Amino acid sequence: MMTKSLKLAIIGGGSSYTPELVEGVLKRLDILPVTEMHFVDIEAGKEKLEIIEGLTRRMVEKAGANIEIKASLDRRAAIANADFVMTQFRVGGLQARANDERIPIKYDVIGQETTGPGGFAKALRTIPVILDICKDIEELAPNAWMLNFTNPAGLVTEAIQKYTQVKSIGLCNVPVSMQMMIAEMMACPPEKLSLECIGLNHLVWAHRAWVDGQDVTAEVLKKVGDGQNFSMNNIFEEPWDPDFLNALGAIPCPYHRYFYQVDAMLAEEKESARDGGTRAEQVMKTEAELFELYRDEELAEKPKQLEMRGGAYYSDASLNLVDAIYNDRKTIHVINVANNGTISSLPDEAVIECSAVVGSWGVRPLAVGKLSPAITGLIHQVKAYEQLAIEAAVEGSYNKAFMALSSNPLVPDITRAKAILDDILRTNHDYLPNFA
Ligand code: G6P
Repeated sequence: MMTKSLKLAIIGGGSSYTPELVEGVLKRLDILPVTEMHFVDIEAGKEKLEIIEGLTRRMVEKAGANIEIKASLDRRAAIANADFVMTQFRVGGLQARANDERIPIKYDVIGQETTGPGGFAKALRTIPVILDICKDIEELAPNAWMLNFTNPAGLVTEAIQKYTQVKSIGLCNVPVSMQMMIAEMMACPPEKLSLECIGLNHLVWAHRAWVDGQDVTAEVLKKVGDGQNFSMNNIFEEPWDPDFLNALGAIPCPYHRYFYQVDAMLAEEKESARDGGTRAEQVMKTEAELFELYRDEELAEKPKQLEMRGGAYYSDASLNLVDAIYNDRKTIHVINVANNGTISSLPDEAVIECSAVVGSWGVRPLAVGKLSPAITGLIHQVKAYEQLAIEAAVEGSYNKAFMALSSNPLVPDITRAKAILDDILRTNHDYLPNFA
């Protein structure tokens, strides 16, 4: 029997995304009896955390909700007895992200925060920290569910599941964004649309789409090929080749552009790095503006400007999951979870992103079995890279790090892999004690 009160611990609570999460909680008070939200951050994020705390208090008061709001640097106090621990932090902040985006570009390689060498660097910084957080959860809230948003979300979730006992689910807003965008193109309410999603985080395909039981996959592919909106704020809207989509036969996610349209995306990145700044550099400006707004004592709601960030529907993704677990809904969600036979050719422990049924007992992925050869090669290569990156991060192994980058499909040769790795290790020295 679940308790009649819910405590949420939010690690990385000083994020500018937090008001979105708060809004999601306030929208669901009739189904989720949240009684405490404890935001936690580190010393460097203290000022932002205080601003978030103030705005949250005003939002909660305006909603007339009875929720105790805590904000502190005390991670253990936040985690103790939490029912859900949500992780949404960024080791090294936006400056580290900007480095992740700029270093690969120097070597003519995609520089992106979650895929390619940028995502690899972020994984190296993040995994030791998240495993440490998990130790606290194991000790202080062993029954809690951990919902991990921290990127690269699939890879990080695999590390959690491999090295800890914590009950964890990885989450991303891409599948729910795809659901919303496809529903819009098909002019149907999102709940009428069913997608069969399978792949890895930021490498997920909707293999089939149905509206009212009718297979509309080909129609959706045609509309995407014709240029209907199918991107996210943080990704260049490089048009898709209709012939390619037709041949592929599955709906790629917006991030697939980095893998299928490498040249065009790299050219866009270079131009942007030269003129307007990389995405992280643009986000720094947006964030400064957002926090100026959040400070305003009159503001008691999530401001519209937050929509400039890439995380649309992020609170729906996470709070719908909380609802499914807490209220034993047995509904379908697209989440990051251990494969366990869902894709027959991948190891059981590999974390994949897929449609799964979620209830109070946890998650059960919907099996797909064999994948088409059009997809299986890319998934396997990226998964091998992810496995190597996880082991490199945990062991501080240069060799595994080198092989991880050399196996990444976005890194075209070992000379560049080595140069990029050395650059990453130098630049991130302070955040990579395992490599000391
Ligand atoms: C998308 C991704 C998230 C990512 C975000 C970045 O929503 O799914 O994983 O964190 O974009 O958005 P930003 O505004 O920070 O570029």
